[in-house]
Amino acid sequence: ASTASAARIVEHTFHVQNLTLNRLCNRQVITAVNGSLPGPRIRVREGDTLVVHVYNKSPYNLTIHWHGIFQKLTGWADGPDMVTQCPIRPGNKYTYRFQITNQEGTLWWHAHASALRATVYGALIIRPRAGNSYPFPKPYREVPILLGEWWNANIIEIQNEALALGRAPNVSDAYTINGWPGDLYPCSINQMYKLRVKQGKTYLLRIINAALDKQLFYKIANHKMIVVAVDACYTNPYVTDVVVIAPGQTVDVLLTTDQPIGSYYMAARAYESAVGIPFDTTTTRGVIVYDGAPSSSTPLMPVLPAFNDTPTAHKFYTNLTGLVGGPHWEPVPLIVDHKMLVTIGLALEVCPSNTTCQGPVNGTKLSASMNNESFVLPTGLSMLQAFFFKVGGVYTTDFPANPPVQFDYTNASINSNLPLLFAPKGTKVTKLKFNSVVEIVLQNTAIVGVENHPMHLHGFVFHVMAQGFGNFNPATDTNKFNFVDPQIRNTIAVPVGGWAVIRFVANNPGVWLVHCHLDAHLSVGFATAFVVENGPTPATTLPPPPADLPQC
Ligand code: C2O
Repeated sequence: ASTASAARIVEHTFHVQNLTLNRLCNRQVITAVNGSLPGPRIRVREGDTLVVHVYNKSPYNLTIHWHGIFQKLTGWADGPDMVTQCPIRPGNKYTYRFQITNQEGTLWWHAHASALRATVYGALIIRPRAGNSYPFPKPYREVPILLGEWWNANIIEIQNEALALGRAPNVSDAYTINGWPGDLYPCSINQMYKLRVKQGKTYLLRIINAALDKQLFYKIANHKMIVVAVDACYTNPYVTDVVVIAPGQTVDVLLTTDQPIGSYYMAARAYESAVGIPFDTTTTRGVIVYDGAPSSSTPLMPVLPAFNDTPTAHKFYTNLTGLVGGPHWEPVPLIVDHKMLVTIGLALEVCPSNTTCQGPVNGTKLSASMNNESFVLPTGLSMLQAFFFKVGGVYTTDFPANPPVQFDYTNASINSNLPLLFAPKGTKVTKLKFNSVVEIVLQNTAIVGVENHPMHLHGFVFHVMAQGFGNFNPATDTNKFNFVDPQIRNTIAVPVGGWAVIRFVANNPGVWLVHCHLDAHLSVGFATAFVVENGPTPATTLPPPPADLPQC
């Protein structure tokens, strides 16, 4: 059947500049897009071409990343600073142009240079192309819910200070829903997100965790939610009263307004699996008001899980399954060409003796590593330019496929794991043949802080084969692989002190970053990259860069 839908060109202009906002009894200058927080909401249909002209009128180097977009043959538009482009310098512009094919659902865009994404972010919603429909009943209305973090300070200064002292950045002062902290914070009675609904309808909430560093629990008083997609990949309907969402992830839920006419709070706060590290323990809330609710009614408040409720987080994450046969479903690739076991975690860096360091251990700075390599961005030329123009010396292709030493992740301690503690720095990547199938066991280490790390892969989605706690055991844990209906994602929260196994098909030539989506971890080297070679035909070869690609 012909759907006869003309793919469109959807064009936006982003002016990225200072914006002064009053929040939490403070006046704060932030960097924002087109004068709003969150920034512009982009709505496209699958098949459309998106064109975004980005004018950098901010004082900082800037890039924009389209989180979760495949960027098939358009790696020049992916956006991570020094990976696929040099930054857009203050006063300059760059046009991102790419077609969105074979994916639909909720994604988002955010700055991908320094810590700018704290305030430079927005929703990117891909609806089915005209004539196609959702694999669930058409919702009455669609509502983006962007969860964020707010600081009563300049986020770039916070990050620079943390990097200089070698410690984690100051924790945020508030969480936000669609930019608003909500009435549990000082001076915020009227700074609360409010959603008006009609009774007896079904709403599609498109929930995005745009927070810099925190996984969140999200709940609505007295209402169940039905998860229908994660990371713009459809899931089997999953009924839950709580959503767990890591930075980078999205969750689409159906919300039926089946409760008595009244008002109900929605609320979010941290899920923090680590013990003993400071974090923002506050709660943001918004309110859902049914039409006809008396203005005097006091909204009901949901009871959120405890901060460290890992069983609840794990239950949510592991109960999700992919919608086999749904739009854009891809079966699990069965034959693996490239296997990797990658340890991921925080590490330490020796502090130059003439500086004061406030790292986790005296005389150290906070660092992070994957297979004991701490990733450093190149300078002078982006990795994708080096790939395309065949320039050597920008990265090396010797990223280890396995950790350098045997290691017991469950009995980890700083003293027993000194060889894995101080990770050498470099720009090491893994080269992949076009169309090869990659399997990665992501093994969370516990040397410096036991924590759940949301790992994001640029340019692809992956099947989540299995996940669990402790050490991945190839003899027994491969039996847990889901070959039938695994969830498909672009960001996986690797369980605290545990592991996850993912598979993807390297069917897109270019340079693709993989990293922890906690910004504080990415900034200390929690990353590596895949360099996918060109395929055999022009249609599988990365085209030259656009003429306005920023130069270093
Ligand atoms: Cu949403 Cu590399 O990031």
